[in-house]
Amino acid sequence: MKSIFMRKNIVAGNWKMNKTLQEGLALATELNTILSNSKPNCEVVIGTPFIHLASIASAIDTSKIGIAAQNCADKESGAYTGEVSASMIKSTGAEYVILGHSERRAYYGETYEILKEKVLLALKNELKPIFCIGEVKEEREANKQNEVVKAQLEGSVFNLSAEEFSKIVIAYEPVWAIGTGLTATSEQAQEIHAYIRGLIADKYGKETAENTTILYGGSCNPGNAKELFANPDVDGGLIGGASLKAADFKGVIDGF
Ligand code: PGA
Repeated sequence: MKSIFMRKNIVAGNWKMNKTLQEGLALATELNTILSNSKPNCEVVIGTPFIHLASIASAIDTSKIGIAAQNCADKESGAYTGEVSASMIKSTGAEYVILGHSERRAYYGETYEILKEKVLLALKNELKPIFCIGEVKEEREANKQNEVVKAQLEGSVFNLSAEEFSKIVIAYEPVWAIGTGLTATSEQAQEIHAYIRGLIADKYGKETAENTTILYGGSCNPGNAKELFANPDVDGGLIGGASLKAADFKGVIDGF
């Protein structure tokens, strides 16, 4: 049974570092056409590289497909060569920003503290963070997944007020399932999503917890989306590989 609360179901694509501008525009406009002809039963978001944001925002109907950046700077503005600020992202027409993805944590040294700053700057600039958490394989094998996600939430987002927290989407992505073809079982996903919702309830109260969208990510595809999304605490997905082709992404969206 799905919750009676108002939380949104979302399927969000994470293109990562894929697609030239022309390829990205082609994919976004194809998706726009497909979703105009067949209305999805969830909110749809695409997370594109920075350089695609403005062009895609003017090429598609952003009331039908929301746009996300995949990162933002941990500083407001100024002499930070190569960085892109939350206010710049907002000015393109993007609505969301993916923060704390495990690839950013692992390859670019993003700590709890850095992510805390990024989340605050996103919110200050009226971008909705899609905040990613999840354990690595060794932690799952040691049955430490609950303490890992708890520390990630406490380290970067549990400093927020309830009102601020209500603007955040959480994405649970077990690192061992990302791009590996290994998916968490439906039971594993439900179990930890319910645990995460419980942590939010302890911190912010039941109503905020019930209204928080918690996405699953990690080798989610047209073949497993329906079963994953049927869980009461799985409110959609953050989709990597299967978001790079319109037909595959539509297949995941059709999981709702
Ligand atoms: P994947 O990536 O769907 O390719 O496993 C998910 C993600 O990293 O967000």
